[in-house]
Amino acid sequence: MDVTIIGCGYVGLVTGTCLASIGHTVRGVEKDAKKLKTLLDGHCPIFEPGLHELMQEHFASGQLQFTDNVKAAVKDAEVVFLCVGTPSKPDGTVDMGFLEGAGKEVCDALAEYNNDYMVTIVVKSTVPAGTNRKLYGFLKEQTRAHVQVVSNPEFLKEGTAVQDCMNPDRIVVGGESREAFLVMRRLYDPLVKPEEKFLTMNWESAELTKYAANSMLAARISFMNEMTILCEQYGADVEDIRKGIGSDSRIGPAFLKAGCGYGGSCFPKDVAALEHISRAVGHENLFVHVIQTINKNQKKRFVDKIENKLGRPLAGAKIAVWGLAFKADTDDIRESAALDVIRYLLDKGAQVKATDPKAMENMKQIFKDEVEWSQDPVTCAAGADAVALLTDWPQYTTLPFRKIAATMSSPIIFDGRNCLHRDVMRDAGFQYYPIGRPAVENTLRLKNRV
Ligand code: UDX
Repeated sequence: MDVTIIGCGYVGLVTGTCLASIGHTVRGVEKDAKKLKTLLDGHCPIFEPGLHELMQEHFASGQLQFTDNVKAAVKDAEVVFLCVGTPSKPDGTVDMGFLEGAGKEVCDALAEYNNDYMVTIVVKSTVPAGTNRKLYGFLKEQTRAHVQVVSNPEFLKEGTAVQDCMNPDRIVVGGESREAFLVMRRLYDPLVKPEEKFLTMNWESAELTKYAANSMLAARISFMNEMTILCEQYGADVEDIRKGIGSDSRIGPAFLKAGCGYGGSCFPKDVAALEHISRAVGHENLFVHVIQTINKNQKKRFVDKIENKLGRPLAGAKIAVWGLAFKADTDDIRESAALDVIRYLLDKGAQVKATDPKAMENMKQIFKDEVEWSQDPVTCAAGADAVALLTDWPQYTTLPFRKIAATMSSPIIFDGRNCLHRDVMRDAGFQYYPIGRPAVENTLRLKNRV
């Protein structure tokens, strides 16, 4: 099929590349001149495993094309994806400007071609309930194009986006027209066998499904994070509880890992949006409010624990931060736990050294020279009073811990992702504090130091 993607940001690029790889002809429209040049040079402007290679392959074959010209891009389009930003306004409502602007530009171009077939406009962006209906009304009123609108929320995870896109748990399509559902079914055909993976519903249900999915996942994480308090008080292990409840088929094992708080471009934004969406209809959504409060507290508590276990005020203490990205395999720092943790540490007067394999340049834009930057975790830890591990980069589990312990002024690790092995830490001579799991105190070594 002929597909146009308006907006080659993260979602647009992944969706377009994957659709090209299943045989569609995809034209991506990008208005940002710098980004377009990168794309036309055959490079991928974002870091996402597997995307660059797939993009290059289909760009070289001509299956995937890029332009800044909407009119040319929609000439033969049967499906047009709107993958533009939907930022929140200060009052929490969504700014429809980009969506309406892009939709109108597409419709005006289509109207000029006077094609007699129906074009399906697909809204990928996460938008509050009622937005697609409003957009459809707006386009019908403002343009004379022959279009139908569907909501098709994406469920991609950064770091595994290509894999998620090619192997979706389900495709959700919201709309009002049977014809539009058939077009979408045809578009996704290779990806939705068995048939139950293709779910159709009305616009509002599809829109709310996205918020509900992300809020449910964030709730599971916040629930487990709250359990870590009890675990630490009663001497239980949150990892055992995770296995204990995750093996109940009604609960399932996913998204139950405790840590120093969730982040990213979706969970924090979508949970907050659900609170606003509820308030818009006069409902105070206590549930989603608590999810966010727990997440905020978790980061504060992590820093309080560092201070408490160090047994000295943080003022003047040297803390090495390992991991700045909101999770492994990405350079994305949006709403990353590291943002809050570093801010709290600095507010308490700590000297922060930080490192990350991918996200350091992004974090430098935020903290500039308030933080000392290190190229690798070994250098970062040298001379520090403690390490705070905030991102579960796999390479952090295989470091030369004995050597690191010897270079620190006190060998203490606070593992905010529960990803290190306690026995390895004990053997290397570390005091080791995971979250909601038994600590390794190594008292003998501590006594020796005193
Ligand atoms: C999320 C959703 O998973 C995805 O469906 C949606 O489209 C966008 O938002 P993403 O933000 O890429 O994806 O990351 P995800 O892997 O879901 O992790 C989000 C945050 O939760 C990370 O900070 C991660 O560290 C944290 N997390 C995840 C936990 O703390 N515990 C877990 O068990 C899982």
